[in-house]
Amino acid sequence: MQAARASSADPSTGAPLQQAPIPAAAPPQRRADGRFGRAGLATALRRAARRGCAPPVVASPPVKLDDKIAVVTGAGRRVGRAIAEELAAAGATVVLHYHGSRVEVAQLASQLERSLVVKADLRTAAGCRTLLEAVRKHCGRLDLLVNNAAGYQRGPFAYETDDTWNQMLALNLVAPARLIRGALGLGVSSVVNIVDVAARVPWKHHAAYAASKAGLAHLTACLALELAPAVRVNAVAPGTVAFPDDFSAGERAAIVRRIPLERVGQPSDVARAVRYLFEEEYLTGVILPVDGGAGLA
Ligand SMILES: NC(=O)c1ccc[n+]([C@@H]2O[C@H](COP(=O)([O-])OP(=O)(O)OC[C@H]3O[C@@H](n4cnc5c(N)ncnc54)[C@H](OP(=O)(O)O)[C@@H]3O)[C@@H](O)[C@H]2O)c1
Repeated sequence: MQAARASSADPSTGAPLQQAPIPAAAPPQRRADGRFGRAGLATALRRAARRGCAPPVVASPPVKLDDKIAVVTGAGRRVGRAIAEELAAAGATVVLHYHGSRVEVAQLASQLERSLVVKADLRTAAGCRTLLEAVRKHCGRLDLLVNNAAGYQRGPFAYETDDTWNQMLALNLVAPARLIRGALGLGVSSVVNIVDVAARVPWKHHAAYAASKAGLAHLTACLALELAPAVRVNAVAPGTVAFPDDFSAGERAAIVRRIPLERVGQPSDVARAVRYLFEEEYLTGVILPVDGGAGLA
């Protein structure tokens, strides 16, 4: 198994990747009712003035995630990349985790104002520790953890092996649990797990994958209950938003025929749902389908 390592440097050139320093750990602001509030426009203006930049253009909706720190696992491509881009566009500092997508994640980091790149194999306890330690060292705290990285495997159950099951469960269920536990020590206040419509709707030839996602969906509910009120734990359950490369045209058409909205979604649909679950402070234990109605069929 590949050794995990943390990096805040461009993996291809060795040059530092952070374009601007990660903001110092600001003490979380509690309102009179004890809940965390958001930095208001006045605060944003004061901060901009201190940084010597022009005041932000006030648009609708306002940038809400300024000074938030988010980890997105598997941020180099497809859904994870869209989530990282959405959060960064809203002002967050994003920790871009990757495993194999070195070039893609370096290219993404070069486009972002503030980011940290960390390589880790999340199938191992050491890999999960590497990611959390990098966040602790470079950011000092964490607001949002998005458990997006996952393995995917399809095929008849009879041909699945113990290794298939161990790999699926290690990456899709045990790693999110480990990362959530570790994130508690970093002050995380929101977790969004990416599950799948298959966590609830059984499919043929996806037993290990679907069972791992069903486990993650149930973990979401268990932890929403156990970790409240300090931490909100929600999930997005996508239908098809990016086809696996090996799906044939016929398989793709068959999937589209089963979707009430008659089209597949986009990674950006999932990304906006993640942001919504992070921003809406009265939501916990929600498993939000983003599937064009596929879960109804
Ligand atoms: N695509 C869809 O239509 C769809 C539908 C339902 C649910 N989902 C869920 O949405 C999420 C993203 O889907 P996707 O299609 O974008 O997935 P994907 O393209 O298969 O990407 C999987 C991600 O997991 C990371 N990863 C793989 N092995 C890893 C390991 N050993 N350690 C750490 N990270 C590892 C990869 O990182 P590297 O690339 O850096 O190796 C990659 O970023 C997944 O949770 C998936 O189950 C997707």
